[in-house]
Amino acid sequence: MCGIIGIISHTPVASRLVDSLKRLEYRGYDSAGIATLDAGQLQRVRAEGKLKNLESRLDGEPIAGTIGIGHTRWATHGAPTVANAHPHATARLAVVHNGIIENFRELKAELQADGYSFESETDTETVAVLVTREMDRGAAPREAVANVLGKLEGAFSLAFLFKGEENLLIGARRGSPLAIGVGRGEMFLGSDAIALSPFTDEVRYLADGDWTILTHDAAEIFDEDGNPVDRPVTVSAGKPFYVDKGNHRHFMQKEMFEQPEVLSHTLGAYVNMTDGRTRTPKGQELDFTKVRRIALSACGTGYYAALVGRYYFERYAGIACDLDVASEFRYRESPLSDVDLALFISQSGETADTLASLRYAKSQGLKTAAIVNVPESTIAREADVVLPTLAGPEIGVASTKAFTCQLMALAALAVRAGVDRGVIKADEELEFTRALMEAPRLVNEALHLEGEIEHIARDLATQHHALYLGRGFSYPLALEGALKLKEISYIHAEGYAAGELKHGPIALIDETMQVVVVAPHDRVFEKTVSNMQEVAARGGRILLITDHKGAASGAMDGARLLVLPDMPEILIPIVFAVPLQMLAYHTAVQMGTDVDQPRNLAKSVTVE
Ligand code: AGP
Repeated sequence: MCGIIGIISHTPVASRLVDSLKRLEYRGYDSAGIATLDAGQLQRVRAEGKLKNLESRLDGEPIAGTIGIGHTRWATHGAPTVANAHPHATARLAVVHNGIIENFRELKAELQADGYSFESETDTETVAVLVTREMDRGAAPREAVANVLGKLEGAFSLAFLFKGEENLLIGARRGSPLAIGVGRGEMFLGSDAIALSPFTDEVRYLADGDWTILTHDAAEIFDEDGNPVDRPVTVSAGKPFYVDKGNHRHFMQKEMFEQPEVLSHTLGAYVNMTDGRTRTPKGQELDFTKVRRIALSACGTGYYAALVGRYYFERYAGIACDLDVASEFRYRESPLSDVDLALFISQSGETADTLASLRYAKSQGLKTAAIVNVPESTIAREADVVLPTLAGPEIGVASTKAFTCQLMALAALAVRAGVDRGVIKADEELEFTRALMEAPRLVNEALHLEGEIEHIARDLATQHHALYLGRGFSYPLALEGALKLKEISYIHAEGYAAGELKHGPIALIDETMQVVVVAPHDRVFEKTVSNMQEVAARGGRILLITDHKGAASGAMDGARLLVLPDMPEILIPIVFAVPLQMLAYHTAVQMGTDVDQPRNLAKSVTVE
């Protein structure tokens, strides 16, 4: 995940920028750079690889200046080269960026038609040139940035530095976090409290859509409509060990809100953002042309991700999938002769059952691959192919961002497999990857339902039982939603395939049963609506999580609705996971349970 730092001061900033970037190394990166203003002139030094390469360049080419910006980059658009490293600059400004600008290709073509040239493959440089064009047309820096923000689609955070402007830094965020650090006669911008921790523990977190004008002694903050707003100063937890809660109450809440950012980084590992083609991560070749059958295995939330993966691989790549919880897979001793790939999913990479299943598959001579969030974990070390999720450290026991990143990886891999097997044509591949690039923005919109969900949770917190129903792509989500609720609120909850209701669970329905129905307006929507009517006819309390099209179809009156944006089918599991996570979280908060460390549970189950 990229890291951002900006400093406006009266003392030299170059070494302090690098110092802050060192605290962001945990986020993972493959190039870095800083830019400063020295006597009003823009200076910039960038390097591939680790920060020590940047430091040795700076030893050779020191740059002065009391105002600057810095960045650690995890390559999404374009290879990890110096040319693609941030800050990106024009004659007028320098900028650093975290996230995805979904419409950068159209904007870049428009700028090239206006005679502007580019030196990198990145979406970030398009932002630099867009603001420059506004200034070439006479706009001052703050208007230029304000005009450009409205043109950008996607989830991002940005920091700008302007030639000749010794008392001005501009920052903006939409979907990816950005915070202001308050100093004495100096101000800071950073991706999180950790980036700011060498300089201050007084932090003002920008809200989604905010942008800010920093001078040595002040920070003006505006909302996305340009109205001045105030964001309170919070004191971050001293010198945090590498991860802290930021301005959130729990790690789980923070990790839910990191999903737009970490989804864009995970996507970047599986899609070349410049040409929109899918790929497996560098050095982790996986040729699906000869893969006819995959055996999927995981535990808990990882298993539900695997269940979504089966729908993806079967629907988009025509590959049959076996699926089992790891604790059964390794003892079932199922014949694996027609399996070409054993694929394991684990956030921690240390789950004993999943590790044992991996070892069993290897003992049977199978090629193994693992989708993991911890690249140096045991499962990562023992799998033949390592497929990373770039969710960053996940502290909350209830998995959230790792789950949606697992789904992102599975979606991209299924498209890759479909292309390898000739099931997906080149133009269809671009359609799929453009859809996946919308995930950060759509998840960000789902996160904006938090107020509504908090209200619903007050009611759910009074219940003792809940039934989650889903069909097709939403069936694994019904299971995951029930798991989220039970593991952190301790309310008994079960997930069921909606079509199974009549085969037993409907006996449970009465006015005391809360039923959560996950039903986007997809190919099985009508079927699920009739299941809902069966529940309503027996007095069940229904919460329907659907999309605009589903809500407009006149679905159930009497049902409580949570409405998400309409979206391409492949995104349904990723985006619909968010309200389910949030519903469980706010119910647990109402119940007063230990949300991040629920009773009886561990973050990684390293015993069988
Ligand atoms: C998910 O919220 C739970 N914490 C649990 O089911 C978890 O998914 C399971 O233990 C697997 O862990 P892993 O992904 O680290 O292997």
